[in-house]
Amino acid sequence: MDTKIRKAVFPVAGFGTRFLPATKAMPKELLPIVDKPLIQYAVEEAIAGGIDTLIFVTGRNKRAIEDHFDANHELETILRAKGKEAQAEMVRNIIPTGVECIFVRQAEQLGLGHAVLCAERAVGGDPFAVLLADDFLTESEPGVTADLVQAFAASGKSQLSVMEVDGPDISKYGVVVPNGLGAGIVGLVEKPDASDAPSNLASIGRYVLTPDIFQTLRGISAGSGGEIQLADAINIHARKGLVETVLLNGRRFDCGSVAGFVAASTHEFALRGSR
Ligand code: UTP
Repeated sequence: MDTKIRKAVFPVAGFGTRFLPATKAMPKELLPIVDKPLIQYAVEEAIAGGIDTLIFVTGRNKRAIEDHFDANHELETILRAKGKEAQAEMVRNIIPTGVECIFVRQAEQLGLGHAVLCAERAVGGDPFAVLLADDFLTESEPGVTADLVQAFAASGKSQLSVMEVDGPDISKYGVVVPNGLGAGIVGLVEKPDASDAPSNLASIGRYVLTPDIFQTLRGISAGSGGEIQLADAINIHARKGLVETVLLNGRRFDCGSVAGFVAASTHEFALRGSR
């Protein structure tokens, strides 16, 4: 097994029901924070972490994401003819040379765990990153994926990005059960009652996983909402002592919700003005 992480999976097949009607014909991952789609921020973070193969798990909204990451020679030519060189270069460099995009289809939206399983053949037998683009991360140079990749290189164990959540909001997250010795965990509990929460460390949408997660996912039956949950598979690995956490360096906004999306947009716009 290669210990260098080169592949990243981007599950982008969800319905995005909380953003209807915006997401009726467009995946929520293309919603822009200021002027850049959520998915492009996540792709840039992955590339900054050393990833060179981007695997998108798409649904019925395949076209728009493919088009965004495909070359657009016509647009480039028009921009250059108008003297807009900087914009033409921006369009050209959305995917840098040497980085490859692979698109796989999740025919039925059977949950995040199922979406990751759909990437199995494209991932092969190597460890890989997973990025949920609707978890918008900022102020975390060189990026959370780079932090997870570095931690994986040190231990060879799966890595979860976690953030501290104090108070009753902890019950909205998957919460890790620390082993009490360091970064290792012995469980991941989905949405516990705040009074029963095993820690104040919530799992967010960035992971580095070992390829044996696919076999575990195959053995899992549909859980809450009829979906195959990635958290259930990670919990099984955590109980075996195969999972560690890395504390979030930076800020995170839940852009799966309208309130989080608006807060992220406001924050990012102000941040750009201050640069
Ligand atoms: P969410 O739980 O936010 O679901 O998915 P959703 O469908 O995107 O949004 P709502 O809740 O209906 O508003 C978390 C991530 O997992 C992906 C989504 O695209 C999102 O990036 N996902 C979820 C899939 O790719 N396939 C699925 O079957 C479910």
